[in-house]
Amino acid sequence: MPFSFFAAMYPTQYFRSIDSTNIKAKEIAEQGAISGSAVVAEYQTNGRGRLGKEWHSVKGKGLYCSIVVRPKIALEDYPKITLVAGLSVAMVLDRIIARNSQLKWPNDIYFRGRKVSGILTESSSLSSSSQDRYAVVGIGVNVHHLETDFPPELREMVTSLFLETGNKFVVEEIFQAVRQELLQQLQLFSTDGFQPLLCQWRKKDFLLGKEMECVSSAGKKIRGIGLGPDDQGQLHVRDTNGHIHEVLSGDVRLATS
Ligand code: BTN
Repeated sequence: MPFSFFAAMYPTQYFRSIDSTNIKAKEIAEQGAISGSAVVAEYQTNGRGRLGKEWHSVKGKGLYCSIVVRPKIALEDYPKITLVAGLSVAMVLDRIIARNSQLKWPNDIYFRGRKVSGILTESSSLSSSSQDRYAVVGIGVNVHHLETDFPPELREMVTSLFLETGNKFVVEEIFQAVRQELLQQLQLFSTDGFQPLLCQWRKKDFLLGKEMECVSSAGKKIRGIGLGPDDQGQLHVRDTNGHIHEVLSGDVRLATS
């Protein structure tokens, strides 16, 4: 059973265990939940990642939350929410552990080349009217994970706030800070546009200038140098022939050899 209360004026539902906070947040968004409403869980039985992947949730060790947002931006700007969300989480984590994270397009957060947080943004259907429109920003942060909490095949690629610092954190405080930052940055998006946010995002670009592999918007596997996101938030990659490809979504990784 969830218990809910208005934290900092925003309705929040807390669960010990849930299938996925994104599923629940979409449910409440469809019922009209206000911007800033959130679902937080200590554990997810069916945590979901991007591209149909699983998000491994370790009981009580991470932040698993989904925040309903209804920014006053044009429909065609909705895909950019995902970059703004990554930037917002990165800013909070940097403040908390006094380090400089990096962002791997579209929205993974890295410390020392290892993933500490991932974001899955899901939007209302394209046919929703502007007043019903929403996005659910699902955020997973590895907070108190030890190396052995991760599946062996991931251990080299991931980290947690605890592994980075040796410190313990109050997960609820991280959640509140993330929600506040996300709503604030989305407010700036609606008043000042995407450019200032993109500028900050680019300073943290993990793939910029690096050799990487991905699937282009035309469905072609490409290898090339990361050029960073363009004004629409789409990643550009220059292949060995000098051709520039636009990546809309898909798996993006550093080239292995
Ligand atoms: C990714 O890295 O592929 C995105 C991971 C997103 C995980 C979070 S955890 C809270 C929320 N609920 C989910 O089912 N997924 C997101």
